[in-house]
Amino acid sequence: MTHPTAGSQRPDPLGVELREVAVQVATAAAELVARRRAEVLGSGTVRTKTSGTDPVTLADTESEQLIRSELGRLRPGDAVLGEEEGGDAAVDGLRWLIDPIDGTVNFLYGLPFYAVSVAVQRDGQSIAGAVVEVSSGRVFSAALGAGATLDGQPLRCNDVTDPALALVATGFGYQARRRVTQGAVVAELLPQVRDVRRVGSAALDLCAVAAGWLDAYYEHGLSPWDWGAGVLIAAEAGADVRPPPATAPGSHGELTFAAAPGVSAAVLSLVERAWSGPMP
Ligand code: IPD
Ligand code: CA
Repeated sequence: MTHPTAGSQRPDPLGVELREVAVQVATAAAELVARRRAEVLGSGTVRTKTSGTDPVTLADTESEQLIRSELGRLRPGDAVLGEEEGGDAAVDGLRWLIDPIDGTVNFLYGLPFYAVSVAVQRDGQSIAGAVVEVSSGRVFSAALGAGATLDGQPLRCNDVTDPALALVATGFGYQARRRVTQGAVVAELLPQVRDVRRVGSAALDLCAVAAGWLDAYYEHGLSPWDWGAGVLIAAEAGADVRPPPATAPGSHGELTFAAAPGVSAAVLSLVERAWSGPMP
């Protein structure tokens, strides 16, 4: 798989430094999202984006604005790409990736699985990242070569070896056409694994693989801000990961994959047998 796993290299000094920045700005944004939820939902201003089921709230916009302004103060001059405001498409050098609320549908409904995700990449590879679950305040973070933690405690993915016993999560895009194919893929996988989960936040799914709460996660069509932090956290917890190219927007339908090493090859081959190539 394409990402070095935990322990395979020395801690990256810049990654170690920027992990602190990622944790700081993601924590501040998560506090803002938690504070603003009742007011924002009470105001009734929920727009939609790529489809009628893809929501954007004032909390998404305010969270991204806060992270951008903090990054501007702490890391002036670094490139930034965010879910709501877009930004720098080029992957050369350092680039921050912001998902101001990952799991916005859960945020709307009050299902507690939504998070702020902040990552920084160097030449398209994640070197530091933080995912802060808003409802609990739990902080997942990692730096390249320096391991992954949850609230400061080291994370390690599962040592499961039988794919038939693997708990596998996935997610679905917002376009109905893509969902037809994604539904067919998961239908093929379901009888061959322990069970399937659809949590509703790609960033938290990847952290759950790191924590051993899931054995594998895959999804076609994520954007870099969805996976930038979570893929590094999973890899640094010992998972095999296969992120899409950092240049690929979600519209390209590429696969994001992370799994405990004992089942990764088998689960990946189940997914690829069900569907290989880009999603419609
Ligand atoms: C979504 C969530 C969801 C995944 C979708 C993403 P958003 O992000 O991560 O779990 O299945 O593909 O778009 O819209 O809540 O930021
Ligand atoms: Ca997202």
